[in-house]
Amino acid sequence: MNNTLDGKVALVTGGSRGIGAAVAVRLARLGADVALTFQQDKMRADAVADEVRLAGRRAAAVRADSADPAALIGAVDRAAAELGRLDIVVNNAGAYLTGPLDGLTLAEFEQTVAVNIRAPFIATQAAVRHMPAGGRIINIGSNMAERAVFPGFALYAMSKTALVGLTKALGRELGPRAITVNLVNPGPTDTDSNPAGGPNAGLIAGFTALGHYASPDDVAATVAFLAGDGGRYITGATVNVDGGFTI
Ligand SMILES: NC(=O)c1ccc[n+]([C@@H]2O[C@H](COP(=O)([O-])OP(=O)(O)OC[C@H]3O[C@@H](n4cnc5c(N)ncnc54)[C@H](OP(=O)(O)O)[C@@H]3O)[C@@H](O)[C@H]2O)c1
Repeated sequence: MNNTLDGKVALVTGGSRGIGAAVAVRLARLGADVALTFQQDKMRADAVADEVRLAGRRAAAVRADSADPAALIGAVDRAAAELGRLDIVVNNAGAYLTGPLDGLTLAEFEQTVAVNIRAPFIATQAAVRHMPAGGRIINIGSNMAERAVFPGFALYAMSKTALVGLTKALGRELGPRAITVNLVNPGPTDTDSNPAGGPNAGLIAGFTALGHYASPDDVAATVAFLAGDGGRYITGATVNVDGGFTI
């Protein structure tokens, strides 16, 4: 089978766990060299980088808080410098700060905006300086942007909805350079931040048509499709990988 991402270089933010780790490994298995960022857990980031190397690809694990613009730009530039080019950026790192409106703080508001909105903007701005024709920007949003089934998601849903506009506007702007920009909206996905064995998991899964959580690799499969040649005529789109949560 042809490796559809042979010769490509990808950067995945928040690639040390969960969806980001699944994306990093899947892109590597398809042929891409992969840089990933993390915030705290160097051991887990290094373990994902090792899995990328096991797939026969080069890897870089870079500590970079997505809330820190200089660190994020540094990670983008380092990925391009160490791995020689930059074709694919997956803006995956997210802040998941929830709670009733009257308890939310200004610091939580600012952290949410910094990580979920500003970071994808800044990483994309920095990345396209390196990106050739055929480049791919893939933002990771959320089903919660489209369907608010529980109270307490004002910050999270607001921030993920902003990615719809960012994705469309940049899809339009970068189209002439043959760079596509798309948004993948996962539904409930079994990760540390939303474990399938968690206390509300049954209730959450009940909102999907398929009746169960996704695995991180279910989301990674769609990201990989958009990153490959099969995704070359898709831009500005939102793809729901949510088991029917938003039907
Ligand atoms: N899981 C779900 O049900 C679900 C549903 C819809 C959307 N999503 C979205 O999918 C994305 C990934 O979620 P997940 O569930 O896979 O998360 P997760 O398992 O909690 O993993 C989060 C990852 O992001 C990194 N990270 C967190 N904050 C960061 C920051 N400020 N700067 C850099 N890296 C940071 C973490 O690094 P460390 O290991 O160093 O902490 C880790 O690698 C998020 O955008 C989330 O909103 C998830």
